[in-house]
Amino acid sequence: MVLMAAMSSHLWAAGGAHVELETMPVNLNDKHSMQRGAKYYVNYCMGCHSLQYSRYNRVAKDLGMTDKQVLNNLVFTGQKVGELMVNAMPTEDSAKWFGIAPPDLTVISRVRGADWLYSYLKGFYLDESRPYGVNNSVFPSVGMPHVLWELEGLKKQVHHAEQEPDDGHGGGHGASKTQYELVVPGSMTEEEYDRAARDLVNFLVYVGEPAKLVRRHGIWAILVLILFLVAAYALKQDYWEDVH
Ligand code: HEC
Repeated sequence: MVLMAAMSSHLWAAGGAHVELETMPVNLNDKHSMQRGAKYYVNYCMGCHSLQYSRYNRVAKDLGMTDKQVLNNLVFTGQKVGELMVNAMPTEDSAKWFGIAPPDLTVISRVRGADWLYSYLKGFYLDESRPYGVNNSVFPSVGMPHVLWELEGLKKQVHHAEQEPDDGHGGGHGASKTQYELVVPGSMTEEEYDRAARDLVNFLVYVGEPAKLVRRHGIWAILVLILFLVAAYALKQDYWEDVH
């Protein structure tokens, strides 16, 4: 499943070479950024996307929050701090509503990369032909509404022909630069929204860190393997006893 997603993202990268991603320096030492990201995530994303391997209290510990802060800032669903960060929306229902089920985002940062996610969160623009009235510059025909529009506002694409002097090739590659123009302002300035997008991506990168998963499950996996080995060895001894 993860592999398939990774492959398709690779294809996307190959096919969408002309889509420029904005770069975003990930900072996993910035706990405040990740805390804000977690808060945005719970408020704006978790209604549709679960994080099925994360528990609130684990996230709280990693990001340096107290259980009380978690209850006040992150848990709105009556869940307990020890519970998994999964949403209440049944997958079949959401698939019916959206045409496609919103994926769990635990490993999305590993599949897509931070730059892609950052560009995606900043890539929504008005497009009347789409069911939600928005399209996305790095995920064309995306089936997700622009859930952060109240923060960012709504913008439209404007194409500027590149200012190169006409070299007689009739504009050969039809080069045009895509820019955005704010149509409906949001509650945040552009800098504030950029920061919110970075916070969300920092949080998603933290969530997708494999080291964390290994820390949690690795030792048990090894113990189970050792147990199997011992059992297999004992069994073998047993067989050979009969053979001799
Ligand atoms: C109303 C439901 C809904 C909400 C809320 C929502 N999403 Fe989505 N999201 C979707 C759906 C549906 C898709 C699948 C889109 C598709 O494949 O066309 C999706 C896809 C995505 C993808 C792309 C996954 C891929 O295939 O690579 C990312 C990343 C994503 N969402 C991030 C977010 C983030 C971050 C938030 C919160 C800021 C959020 N979503 C909030 C419904 C939602």
